[in-house]
Amino acid sequence: MNVLSQEKINEIRNSVNIVDVISSYMPLTPKGKNYFGVCPFHDDTNPSMSVSPSRQIYKCFSCGATGTVFKFIMDYENISFMEAVKKVADMGGIPINIGKVQKKQNHTELHKIYDLSLKFYINNLNTAQGKEAREYLKKRNINEETIKEFQIGLALKKDNLSKILIQKFKPEDALKSGLIGKNDYGYYDLFYERIMFPLYDLDGNPVAYSGRIYNREDNSKYFNTRETEMFKKGELLYNYHRAKNDARKKNQIIIMEGFMDVIRAYTIGIKNVVATMGTAVTDIQAHLIKRMAKEVILCFDGDEAGAKATMACSNELLKIGVTPKVIRLEDDLDPDEYIQKYGKDTFQRKIDNPISIMDFKLSYLKVGKDLTNSADGAKYISELIDELNKIDDDILKELTIKKVATEMNIDESLIRNHLETKEFKKPVLKKIEVPDSISKYEKAESSLIYYMLKSPEVITMYNNKVTYIPNKEYRMLAREISAFYKNFGFINEADFIDYIECDEDLMQTINKINKTNTKETYTLEEIDDYINVIRDYNIKEEIKRLTNKMKNLTDPLDKAKIAEEIVGLKKGSVN
Ligand code: GTP
Ligand code: MN
Repeated sequence: MNVLSQEKINEIRNSVNIVDVISSYMPLTPKGKNYFGVCPFHDDTNPSMSVSPSRQIYKCFSCGATGTVFKFIMDYENISFMEAVKKVADMGGIPINIGKVQKKQNHTELHKIYDLSLKFYINNLNTAQGKEAREYLKKRNINEETIKEFQIGLALKKDNLSKILIQKFKPEDALKSGLIGKNDYGYYDLFYERIMFPLYDLDGNPVAYSGRIYNREDNSKYFNTRETEMFKKGELLYNYHRAKNDARKKNQIIIMEGFMDVIRAYTIGIKNVVATMGTAVTDIQAHLIKRMAKEVILCFDGDEAGAKATMACSNELLKIGVTPKVIRLEDDLDPDEYIQKYGKDTFQRKIDNPISIMDFKLSYLKVGKDLTNSADGAKYISELIDELNKIDDDILKELTIKKVATEMNIDESLIRNHLETKEFKKPVLKKIEVPDSISKYEKAESSLIYYMLKSPEVITMYNNKVTYIPNKEYRMLAREISAFYKNFGFINEADFIDYIECDEDLMQTINKINKTNTKETYTLEEIDDYINVIRDYNIKEEIKRLTNKMKNLTDPLDKAKIAEEIVGLKKGSVN
């Protein structure tokens, strides 16, 4: 439950303007009375999200997401209602005292195990046995401050962690952590003699490690924790929790391959950086990137593998409507090496002057081809057409066509004729998916509640005329709305949403309702119609029930009584 009163929560919400807050997360453009932006909660390319300064709510016409400033922050940052309230209070300069806000995530056994292992590994690095590892880090120009910030630690030779974990936790939990194993002789550490880099989840909790060799030969330079309940490699990005705020402020995010690269960039003050950690970028990671900033810059290793990874990552981003830019580093260097060799200013200049994804692809496609040879030339153009078909950015497309036509001395139409004709962009409203199966009854319930959220008059009609809403989720919502009105004497969607503390089930129903209804105004006849349809449904259900009951009766008198009841009900029914 809330430790803050509803009035306080309203005061906090009113201390900021939703338009300002959402603009600090994503660009908004004014249009009429409202502001519009690309919805961060689904694969949006059109600006489908509208933000209303007068109503202080946002609403996506495409996916139906709705809510107040609190709900936006909750979903965007994946935090709890009270954490969001706290943030908004800070923005609005309203002092509140609710103690330490509880994190959304439960502090499970696994988290405890990781917190303990982190302390353990960090401590190892500072012992006498950690000397060699400390020297290695020093040689790589990683100073004390960086070691602290990134919580770098050390796994020693012996099975030390397993001993502690087995003592303090249930063995099955300890085994689940991916930090220890078990064989006939007992428990053993999975990491030994490796410099331990913690990997964090999106909230910044340590959930895994990547351990680097530093004093011996080994097949794998890095060894990672296997996937566990809380560590899914494809669902996180290294440094996300540190980078996201800077990225949002600058509206720019830089993507690198290795976490050592990120650490280096961070030490020279470039903090809007995350790493993919050497694997192909997944759809989930692409969405995380999209959420953080509009300008996405890929800064992968300077070698051929890095170029290949740039191609793959850019395509994953293009699929979800993000057109990244690219930085290429000379001499096959990775960002870590490049920064150390050329210094901060040179690297910053690179970031300030990224090349377009198409310019990168043009040079990538040329590698290994002799363009004076017509077979290679044809191949080049055909591959280029494939790449052009992946991008949405019309201007970039146009510029590329012109460039290649000139370069290859061919007619532009030759390229244009091979481009897939882009589907005519449907108006955004058409994108609302109203399930085919929505019955007229459900439509009536949904529309009635939609207007209840807007008007006390409709709530009163509901109170007086509707005895029962058949569908459970709508019934619950209608009851809450009615209770809110009874308590506060007014109705306002924003206040109501805060009142229910963005309860997930109720919010889902509200989103559904907002998806199927868009009209702002209603007539009383319309509301009466909805009420009649609902009543009609209830009567039909009651008739069904009675008919069934009648079937099981033997006494003709009882049967007659029920038959009479049914006739009475049928008269009351509209159709
Ligand atoms: P350093 O050699 O320490 O500078 O690392 P790096 O950042 O240059 O690594 P590299 O470019 O070789 O690889 C990029 C990322 O791929 C690393 O950050 C790791 O996450 C991952 N990686 C590299 N080598 C291995 C390996 O042997 N095993 C595993 N599991 N991951 C690796
Ligand atoms: Mn490196």
